[in-house]
Amino acid sequence: MRNLHKTYPFEPLQLNYTPEELSPKFSPEAVKVHYNGHYMSYINNLNAVLQDYPEYRGWTLDEFFSRESELHAEARNPILRNAGGIFNHETFFSHLKPEGKPEPEGELADAVIEFFGSFEAMKEEFIAEALKVFGSGYAFLVVTPQSWIQIITQSNQDTLSEKNYTIIAAADMWEHAYYLDYQNKKRDYLENLWELFDWEQAEKTFETINEKNKKFEFGF
Ligand SMILES: [Fe+2]
Repeated sequence: MRNLHKTYPFEPLQLNYTPEELSPKFSPEAVKVHYNGHYMSYINNLNAVLQDYPEYRGWTLDEFFSRESELHAEARNPILRNAGGIFNHETFFSHLKPEGKPEPEGELADAVIEFFGSFEAMKEEFIAEALKVFGSGYAFLVVTPQSWIQIITQSNQDTLSEKNYTIIAAADMWEHAYYLDYQNKKRDYLENLWELFDWEQAEKTFETINEKNKKFEFGF
């Protein structure tokens, strides 16, 4: 279970796959460094910061983002950067699936055609937007509350949590995410990452949001 609604002490997300299962798109070594080194450091750092601020130990990650203005000025950056690092990494890792279906079907597939023209066009646009991230950040494929599909990028560990978008796929554009396996070849990284996106999960997410909209439209 992801950490968004959990509180201190934060614990790492257990992945549904082993580092070896992402091979050959990612080497097990690179996945382990990403998970054990980078992701875990955000967990450990947030827990360490909260040692000094016991008043926030009952807050969920979601509350850190939504009640940001209530945080002490000196605690705000350390908390938000680490909470963002946890949220974004869990988003990234939890939307990957080894040997998943190569592209979505059903309502999501129809929406992809409506918004991008084709699955291939969506992929190209996603990669193009991800490559525009300057420095560190993320590219997210999201579903808006109106069931629109959009590509949104963010800098550093800024999150989309306050915008009511539901993320269905994420590309970590921090150098640590690709450098061990792909060095400066960011496009190769993104092409391979794209093939690991979990379209089955994305279909279910999209259908749930779409269902709510249909009820709203028809006034049920
Ligand atoms: Fe990362």
